[in-house]
Amino acid sequence: MSIPTAQAASKQNAGYHAAGLVEDGMVVGLGTGSTVFFAMERLGERIAKDGLSIAGVPTSYQAAIRARQYGIPLTSLDEHPGLDIAIDGADQVDPDLHLIKGRGAALLREKCVCDAADRVIIVVDPTKTVDILNAPVPVEVLPFASAGVFRRLAALGAAPVLRDGVKKDGPVVTDNGNFILDCDFGALADPRSLEADIAAIPGALECGLFTAYGEKITVIVGEEKDCRVVSL
Ligand code: 5RP
Repeated sequence: MSIPTAQAASKQNAGYHAAGLVEDGMVVGLGTGSTVFFAMERLGERIAKDGLSIAGVPTSYQAAIRARQYGIPLTSLDEHPGLDIAIDGADQVDPDLHLIKGRGAALLREKCVCDAADRVIIVVDPTKTVDILNAPVPVEVLPFASAGVFRRLAALGAAPVLRDGVKKDGPVVTDNGNFILDCDFGALADPRSLEADIAAIPGALECGLFTAYGEKITVIVGEEKDCRVVSL
């Protein structure tokens, strides 16, 4: 058996802790990324061993594929426009529980699921917590409008970069058929107003800033041996 690295152990602790917050009968938003995988793994175990009865709404093809592998029954926002809980990862978290998400290009569906959930559990390792958000902000863009959106984002002070595929030539195409512009704005003094400014650009379908959900977010910061639970 391979010994987990410290970061993998942190992700596992966070994911397992989050899975423990899910109760029988809940409809659960299933986020995208490596930390949520651990939550899904534990949910799959609880389904198989304890008869836990839940349904999941996946935020991406990746989440749907992994949920099926773990035996988590799937449903949709059409069937369940309101969710009991969502579990997702993040790329950065600040003390106001503002997030940057979207490394995995799933931010549009992730925000829909976050908005639909009564409670949102964000699972991260300690490298994700920062005093001030400063990572590039991913923006999902309608290809038809991408040149105009690029211009508007540059006018807001970003240096947008069209995200390229890995093992695919040309741009990343999201699960929704759109492009991603990664926008480096430097340190974000006012992430809430930046999110509003980006939302006002026609063709900018969604951005990876999540600043409106702090009250319903609980962040689980996995440590090597334990977890730290943070809420407002
Ligand atoms: C995907 C995301 C992920 O949730 C985020 O990138 C965290 O991923 P990981 O847990 O693998 O670090 O926003 O769009």
